[in-house]
Amino acid sequence: MTEDAPQEACVGDQVWDLPEPPWPLELVEGNVLGSGNDADDATSRGVARLGTRHTQRKQRRAQKAQAKQAHGLSRTRELRALLDVLGALPAAVPALSSALPTGMDPKGMPSTELPTQPLQQRRAPTKPVDVNEVEAALHAAESVLGVGVQRYAGLPTALGPVEAIEILGAMVERAPKYQEKYLGQEVSLLYKVHALVSGAGASRTNGTLAIVDIGAGNGCLALLAALILNGVAVLIDHTLPPQELRVEEKVPERYRSRVFRITGDVADLDVDRDVLPLLQEHGVGSAIVIAKHLCGVGTDLALGLIRRWCSSGGCVPLLGAVIATCCGHKIGTEDRERYAALHAEDTYLSGLTENDPARLQALLALCTRCVAWRTTAGALGNRITPQQVRAAELFEDALQQPRLRLLQGSFPAAAEVLFIEKEKSPQNRCLLAGSLESLHSACNDGASSGVCETEAAANMVPFVEALQRAGRELLEANRGKPVDLKPHGFVSAKYDYDGN
Ligand SMILES: C[S@@+](CC[C@H](N)C(=O)[O-])C[C@H]1O[C@@H](n2cnc3c(N)ncnc32)[C@H](O)[C@@H]1O
Repeated sequence: MTEDAPQEACVGDQVWDLPEPPWPLELVEGNVLGSGNDADDATSRGVARLGTRHTQRKQRRAQKAQAKQAHGLSRTRELRALLDVLGALPAAVPALSSALPTGMDPKGMPSTELPTQPLQQRRAPTKPVDVNEVEAALHAAESVLGVGVQRYAGLPTALGPVEAIEILGAMVERAPKYQEKYLGQEVSLLYKVHALVSGAGASRTNGTLAIVDIGAGNGCLALLAALILNGVAVLIDHTLPPQELRVEEKVPERYRSRVFRITGDVADLDVDRDVLPLLQEHGVGSAIVIAKHLCGVGTDLALGLIRRWCSSGGCVPLLGAVIATCCGHKIGTEDRERYAALHAEDTYLSGLTENDPARLQALLALCTRCVAWRTTAGALGNRITPQQVRAAELFEDALQQPRLRLLQGSFPAAAEVLFIEKEKSPQNRCLLAGSLESLHSACNDGASSGVCETEAAANMVPFVEALQRAGRELLEANRGKPVDLKPHGFVSAKYDYDGN
């Protein structure tokens, strides 16, 4: 992963935005053939026929365009795709068979035979879709899949102290578009890490704090957290970024010894063998995990490590976790098996699928494919309907619920928030876990949390002060200049960076 290919590079893949196929002729031909011509002699008949054909073609074209426009306006193709998905759901979630509106034809196909092609490719729509039917089916799906689930639309927003963006912006230098995109995300996540560690109470043992970043990429976020919290950064990634991008190559000498890398797939890491010895060697007494935008099943693999760590009863307690999730649509066929294995104990999933592994695979196939609708809806020229976005949110809620429950089983408390405005990143869901008290401050920063502004502002003061102190030290060590994080030599058109 390079800075040139940030996480949103995989967002908004137009997997559902397929080119229009030729419009089915049967839509218009019947009408056109009905229009006549009454020329009566042979010549004039010939001329008339020519004229008629010309007129007919013109009419046909006009009607075709009209029909196409009507379908386009009513989003027939997109609504049909959604109905297909909703119709296929009962095969995975039996409780939906009776909840779907009468008259709707559930696919009823065995779960293992669910289509593997994007549903839009399977057939062209021939008649407009009744929006009420779509709404009713969607409502039914929500009434079954959405029960007891934290819904996206109801998630509190917790952005952290936005005034601290300027402070962080003075500490690091990147192309303006990178700064615009990342500073807000980083401030929000750093605030949460600070709150979870500060509120950890007695669990915070003597010794250094480690910020363990899973899917760390260049490692910038973990290093910033380490500077703010006087800790060390442990960067886990299966891919070692090129030297030019590694944060430890960019900071002043004295900070380099505070960055350690573990290069390996998080799925294969043994906490006692691969993680704890390294931490002990460097005097680490407690740790917190962060994971920002690990695509697809990467989040679940990271959660697997967290669970193994918490249940190992090892010598370094885990104080909490801050996990920004990303790209559910990237959970492919093999990943779905891994997702199912990691969440095998989850009662929400087993309840929906009545403990049937094939149904669970079918449910995951439907959910993962359709979550992209929400991110695609933000892409230029997309045709995604509001109903598809609602369904995508529901499916992502369903994928997210077992993750939240896994964290609730590993820590005293866990919650989900929106950590950044969706306009800045559509991948704005963040799972948080830690002690009950620390979670309260991490989630309640006044944005939409119901906490009064004064209390929220007071909560944030220690973080802002810690950031200011870290900033002063960093600038002093770097001869008064911000740390240059520009990916020199890596050109990015998207971020308007020429590599210099
Ligand atoms: C989208 S990037 C995010 C990088 C960084 N966290 C950030 O926000 O800038 C995802 C990173 O996760 C890493 N990754 C994905 N799956 C992983 C796995 N199973 N084990 C370790 N690293 C993984 C990738 O190599 C990549 O660096």
